[in-house]
Amino acid sequence: MEKPQRKKRILSGIQPTGIFTLGNYLGAIRNWKQMQEDYNCIFFIADMHAVTIRQDPASFKKQTLECFALLLACGIDPEKSIVFIQSHVPSHSQLTWLLNCNTQFGELSRMTQFKDKSSRHSDNINAGLFSYPVLMAADILIYSPDLVPVGNDQKQHIELTRDIVNRFNNAYGKTFTMPDAYIPKLTARVMSLSDPTKKMSKSADDNLCIDILDTPAQIIKKFRRAVTDSDSLVAYREGKDGINNLMSIYSSITGKSFEEIESEFDGRGYGDFKTAVGEAVAEELAPIRENYDRLMNDRSYLKAVYADGAKKAATISSRVLEKAYKRMGFIPPEK
Ligand code: TYM
Repeated sequence: MEKPQRKKRILSGIQPTGIFTLGNYLGAIRNWKQMQEDYNCIFFIADMHAVTIRQDPASFKKQTLECFALLLACGIDPEKSIVFIQSHVPSHSQLTWLLNCNTQFGELSRMTQFKDKSSRHSDNINAGLFSYPVLMAADILIYSPDLVPVGNDQKQHIELTRDIVNRFNNAYGKTFTMPDAYIPKLTARVMSLSDPTKKMSKSADDNLCIDILDTPAQIIKKFRRAVTDSDSLVAYREGKDGINNLMSIYSSITGKSFEEIESEFDGRGYGDFKTAVGEAVAEELAPIRENYDRLMNDRSYLKAVYADGAKKAATISSRVLEKAYKRMGFIPPEK
């Protein structure tokens, strides 16, 4: 009889730096929700990553809980997946130290997110900002996942993680399993509606960033104002960044191919198309707002879910952590 295949393990995280954007949703969370059916999944709020940028403690605390509720509101189901808050599971920071000592300064200097964030926050280029990808490597390796579903901007960090696996395993014997990035085809990089050459992200100069808790009217209004080009052909073509972005969003939500979209809007111009994309996004996000309001009114449920998630995550991660300490030659503590 054929041996039943082990369900593959998925792991991913998201920073609590504000209400999630449509980019976070289409690039990551929506896939996570779908993957819950077929994989063993572990998802967390990456609160320790968020403090690489200075946070106001009171709003940071509030946002972390809101983001946790939002993850559940998006359909991450604690009955199917392990969901927790990163700082509640100390193995992440413990493994980070071991990995820090096995990561090169030069490698970290090449990380594009570090270069980008250090130029935007030049008054606070702290050591955490620099070694942040090592914490991310620890987040991943401590759970031995097969796949890490992320948007394109995290690809470089996963490549670094893979390099760390090779180096560590070569130096100390096989300790970590090799993870693969899982990046969606259509929405690996959702672009800004106000400047389609930049990725959509919460930033002061983007007043068209879609928050997943925006009302339908706000969403449709932002899409109607999306920057496009000066002709009126709804078609996926090089140089039509704005329209290409809208087509990718529309296609990923409705499941329609680019050809179907092109013929649907043949001769109809951009106005109709932008409204249709806005309406499709608004309809997709509406249930999330309702779930979120309900969850935020039930703090004790949220607490119970993150307590249970952290307990399960601690059990899994402590095994890999112990192995890594042992492989490096640390004396195990007496039990
Ligand atoms: P974060 O919090 O910046 O983003 C969370 C997820 O959303 C994706 N994303 C996008 N995808 C497509 N288009 C966009 N415009 C867009 N903006 C964001 C990101 O690629 C990401 O998948 N370092 C991570 C969090 C993290 C993590 C981990 C992820 C910490 N530890 C371990 C995976 C595994 C981050 O800052 O993502």
